[in-house]
Amino acid sequence: MSDTLAPATLRRLERAARTAAKGSYSPYSKFRVGAAILTGSGKMFTGTNVENASYGLCNCAERTAIFAAVATGERVLRAVAVYTPTKTATTPCGACRQVINEFGPTARVISVCDGPDRIETTLDQLLPAAFGPKNLRVRPR
Ligand code: THU
Repeated sequence: MSDTLAPATLRRLERAARTAAKGSYSPYSKFRVGAAILTGSGKMFTGTNVENASYGLCNCAERTAIFAAVATGERVLRAVAVYTPTKTATTPCGACRQVINEFGPTARVISVCDGPDRIETTLDQLLPAAFGPKNLRVRPR
C-alpha cells in the first residue's frame, strides 16, 4: 500500500521535477526530462537525463535522482515525480520502473508535462508481479 502524501508535498515534488529538467544534458534527443523523488526520511532529490555519445549509456532523470539519493544513504523511496516536455504525461520507462522497485515497490509515481494532463499512480501498478530483492531473499534496508 502506498502511503498518503500531502497535496502540498506532491506539488513541491512536481515543481522540483520541472525545475530539474533545466539541467538536462540531452544534446541527442533534445528531450529534457526532470525528476524529483521523496525518500523515507523526507528528503527530496532531483535528477535529469544525462545522455552520452555512446547512446546506450544515456541515463534517465529518474535513475539519476535515485542514484544520487542512494549514494547518500537513502534507501526508501516514497514518491517519484517526473516531468517530460510533452503535451500529455508519460510514465517512467521499464528500466526506471525496475530501479524504483528496488527501493520503493509501492512508491507513488506522478507524471506531469507541458499541458494540464497528469498521471498519478503507484509503482506496483506500473510494474505488477515485479522481480526484486524479495525474490533473492534480501531485505535491502
Ligand atoms: N527519459 C527520461 O529521462 N525519463 C523518462 O521517463 C523517459 C525517457 C530520457 C532518456 C533519454 O535521454 C531521453 O529521455 C529520450 O528517451
